[in-house]
Amino acid sequence: MFRVEGSPAGRAAGAEGFIPFALPDIGEEEIEEVVSALRSGWITTGPRTRQFEGQFASFIGGGAQAIAVNSATSGLHLALEAAGVGPGDSVITTPYTFTATAEVIRYLGADPVFIDIEPATLNLDPARVGEYLARGSRRNSVRAIIPVHFGGLPCEMDEILRIAGRHGLKVIEDAAHAIPALYRNALIGCLGSDAAVYSFYATKTITAGEGGMIVTRDPAMAARCRVMRLHGISRDAFDRYRAETPSWRYEVVAPGFKYNMGDLAASIGIRQLEKVWRFHRIRSKMAARYNEAFGDLPVVLPPRARLGDVHAWHLYVIRLADGAGVHRDRFIEMMAEKGIGCSVHFIPLHLHPYWRGKYGLQPGDFPNALHAYERAVSLPMYTKMTADDQERVIRAVGDILK
Ligand SMILES: Cc1ncc(COP(=O)(O)O)c(C=O)c1O
Repeated sequence: MFRVEGSPAGRAAGAEGFIPFALPDIGEEEIEEVVSALRSGWITTGPRTRQFEGQFASFIGGGAQAIAVNSATSGLHLALEAAGVGPGDSVITTPYTFTATAEVIRYLGADPVFIDIEPATLNLDPARVGEYLARGSRRNSVRAIIPVHFGGLPCEMDEILRIAGRHGLKVIEDAAHAIPALYRNALIGCLGSDAAVYSFYATKTITAGEGGMIVTRDPAMAARCRVMRLHGISRDAFDRYRAETPSWRYEVVAPGFKYNMGDLAASIGIRQLEKVWRFHRIRSKMAARYNEAFGDLPVVLPPRARLGDVHAWHLYVIRLADGAGVHRDRFIEMMAEKGIGCSVHFIPLHLHPYWRGKYGLQPGDFPNALHAYERAVSLPMYTKMTADDQERVIRAVGDILK
């Protein structure tokens, strides 16, 4: 059987083995597809990337176009660029996210305006966004909002889209955690934002190793993203070199980026997308089991989806209650001593040296993000985890908190 040397996928996560925080679930189908791509001779952007885009667009539905890129970070960058964000502009987002969400704003010479989260959902608080746009110091420079569906829980999109509409702002959804998440019975990506961007990073709900997908219903946005993902060339490499229409001529129409997805990543993505609902059923069941097991412990359980919404369950984040009797950092150490990997999502951006220094931010500027961060623990939850592994995690959490 094919194994990448040193791959965590090669490690046993059995009864006494280490239970890692996350593992990709790669089957023989993905391996065979990659091998076929390798044998085909086409390993950069080509037929499999096209196929993956087509399958992703039909998965999302509603006439969406899908543009494959090499990460969600590059997808967010392209979508913001296509939305016209540039130097001197501001973009509203949450501090309770990965730095990629905000760094792409800086790539364009614009500045983030961080707005605190709702404690109940850990998502950007629409009421605070509305207040900022009414009275905030940089409100006139705001061009866009990037809501992040934290952990896979949909943001309150009706409210965000209503506020954006009232102020003429673009909305680019950071949907890195949100495959598959539904808001009011519609998949994220179908909700009337300007674009939604998904991640296929190794730990995500479906993976391509690395990769991302921009989904948009705006033909101008789609066209701009396609051009800018490959050097600002008006056609991609596949168009230029495929045998049926050989042509060496191309035109550079803008100083673009090198953000295209290759066919090897697309091969993995194609096969993972076929499993998206099966994977989701497994994750949802695991989340339900954790919820049931932790009901009497001094923890705040992860926020649940509202009626009509579906949580993607990328992350299972508990928050230790103030009476838990153990500090979060010590809790994670004790879990590691028991052979269980945990993580923290997220260290809020305003605590990192770059963001803190650049914008003169204080820890108390976003009290809800700070409060959540200090208590948050992401527990292992992935489709390859066995029921025994999960029971071991449950016992370990119970032993530490009892
Ligand atoms: C909320 C969020 N946005 C964006 C990204 C960036 O995704 P990628 O690694 O595909 O660039 C991540 C990655 O973990 C993330 O958690």
